[in-house]
Amino acid sequence: MSSNEGHTALQWRETGSATGDVLLLVHGFPFSSAMWRPQIEAPPAGWRVIAPDLRGFGASPPPTALQGATLDGMADDLAALLRQLEVRRAVVCGLSMGGYITFALLRRHPALVRALVLCDTRPEADTEEVRRGRLQMAARVAVDGTAAVVEAMMPRVLAPGAAYLQPEVAAEVRAIMESAPEDGVIAALHAMAARPDSTPMLRSINVPTQIIVGEHDQITPAGDAQLMTRAIRGAQIEIIPEAGHLPNLENTPLFDRALNAFLVTVASS
Ligand code: MLT
Repeated sequence: MSSNEGHTALQWRETGSATGDVLLLVHGFPFSSAMWRPQIEAPPAGWRVIAPDLRGFGASPPPTALQGATLDGMADDLAALLRQLEVRRAVVCGLSMGGYITFALLRRHPALVRALVLCDTRPEADTEEVRRGRLQMAARVAVDGTAAVVEAMMPRVLAPGAAYLQPEVAAEVRAIMESAPEDGVIAALHAMAARPDSTPMLRSINVPTQIIVGEHDQITPAGDAQLMTRAIRGAQIEIIPEAGHLPNLENTPLFDRALNAFLVTVASS
């Protein structure tokens, strides 16, 4: 395990019971802790919810050139934050890029992870084609700003028809993405492109694991989640209807019901 030297000090939102067991919510790309608004506003009963802004997003500073752009570094930031808050172990819930970072946290700081919730994510590394696309996008963002990513993601991030069926959710998601700072977006694109394959570690995961995926997720489809469920011992899957890549925002009642039921089993185990 590497030390936390050189980590980025993160900003975070906190809610729920100050003395409760900890649920750490790790946001996706290019979002911030703001994407967990419904879960922050109505935290699971008895739980202390901590939602950090990852380096380069929300109110957290970007990584320095020295720290570089790696998901391992982002996982070290989370470990440092938990230690700063004197949290010994947390249920870690990572969505999409947040899931990639959760795998890195599990690899580098396993003692901090009490249970896992893997939302709309995948264990594989990028294909060569996807990696090239990310680096091209990073170059475009340097010229055109974050808007380049927003326009590429908006048509795919929510369930088809969401722009008409849930315009307020679409507007909220767009606003969160638009506020992502360019340097954070560029660093995260490089970090995701360089991430390792986490598939080999799935069979050795030995903490309670829940997999959640939106039925209509076009970015990390339900089929990927099913494969991951089969590979992780004892994992339970919840497919959230009427939701795409962000089920916690698109179908909050069913997302919360699934997550809260899992947390109850973790608390009693
Ligand atoms: C995310 O939501 O974090 C991204 O879609 C992940 C990715 O681009 O692979």
